[in-house]
Amino acid sequence: MNIRTATINDTKAIMALWKETKLTRPWNSIEDDIKRALATPTSTLLVMEYKSHVIGTVMPGYDGHRGWFYYLAVDPLYQGNGFGKQLVHAAEEWLKLQGAPKVLLMVRKSNESVVNFYTNIGYEENNVMLVGKWLEENVDVPSPINFHNLAEAEEWVINTKKKRPYRHDFFIAFAQEINANFKNPVTILEIGSGPGHLARHILENCNVKKYMLLDFSAPMNEIARNHLGNFANRATFLKRNFKAPDWYKNLEKVDIVVTLQAVHEVRHKKHIGNLFKQLRHVLREDGMLLYSDHYYTEDNRNKHPELYLTLDEQSAILTKSGFHDVELLLDKGEMALYRAIIKTENL
Ligand SMILES: C[S@@+](CC[C@H](N)C(=O)[O-])C[C@H]1O[C@@H](n2cnc3c(N)ncnc32)[C@H](O)[C@@H]1O
Repeated sequence: MNIRTATINDTKAIMALWKETKLTRPWNSIEDDIKRALATPTSTLLVMEYKSHVIGTVMPGYDGHRGWFYYLAVDPLYQGNGFGKQLVHAAEEWLKLQGAPKVLLMVRKSNESVVNFYTNIGYEENNVMLVGKWLEENVDVPSPINFHNLAEAEEWVINTKKKRPYRHDFFIAFAQEINANFKNPVTILEIGSGPGHLARHILENCNVKKYMLLDFSAPMNEIARNHLGNFANRATFLKRNFKAPDWYKNLEKVDIVVTLQAVHEVRHKKHIGNLFKQLRHVLREDGMLLYSDHYYTEDNRNKHPELYLTLDEQSAILTKSGFHDVELLLDKGEMALYRAIIKTENL
């Protein structure tokens, strides 16, 4: 067993190890993380080698006041042999050489095994709250899918059916809520309507006078038109971008706004409240919003914490944006559906 400084030639092996040990996040370029750590004079990346294979890593850095380390990883095949402890020790020695008097690191409190690992090797909890602020102006999270590209839009449609078979339960819940609250034919606006799956279910099962499908993707609108078949005669397709400041202007007021897996497409959770406030302008008095989207949980490392609200934040933001009677109707597969009614008095 040997611990040495990584070189750029180790990149592939390190990336494979970090993927295996689930240290990666889809939106973070680990290749860039490796390059930066090796190129910055006050940081490094150490690898543990066994028979020329990289089986462990740790990435220490000294900010001139405290030492930190990241990416502590040991190949699962070699865990339980004290190699993690050896890597921490190597990081500490490297930081001491730089002059760091203390080492700090961040651990999720919910990650009990990692908390135990550190407390067993002499690390103590510090009574601090982690606060943060983005220094970049544009903090929006880039979309991994280009919905304006037909092939990518079609791929999304195929994948979502496979990945989320429970979507149908959401379609049913949307339609049930509409039927429970409206007797006369209704007008509906769907934002981020995509392939029209929800639209078709509602048109088939509810008394709908007019259904407007709003989406900024021409290919998605085309897919939806085909999917609706004969139901398309009660549908209108609007090619609009709901991130544009005036997207909602000149729209006729509707009884109901529905949306599924689309609100997060504002690409940062800080924009969601604004979108809901804009929705108040397209809903008639006492109109209803049926809002469904993914939510963030601490345990799901594939969901970006800046993109998705938590379950608690979802209902809180509806109330804050001027909706009342907020009720959670369905919670499945880390997706939630809410019913909320518009408050018109303070528009
Ligand atoms: C994840 S898909 C969900 C589609 C649909 N609601 C469903 O569940 O089947 C998101 C949809 O939002 C649309 N979209 C993304 N950003 C948008 C924007 N800024 N304005 C309008 N539509 C947008 C995409 O084109 C895509 O059809």
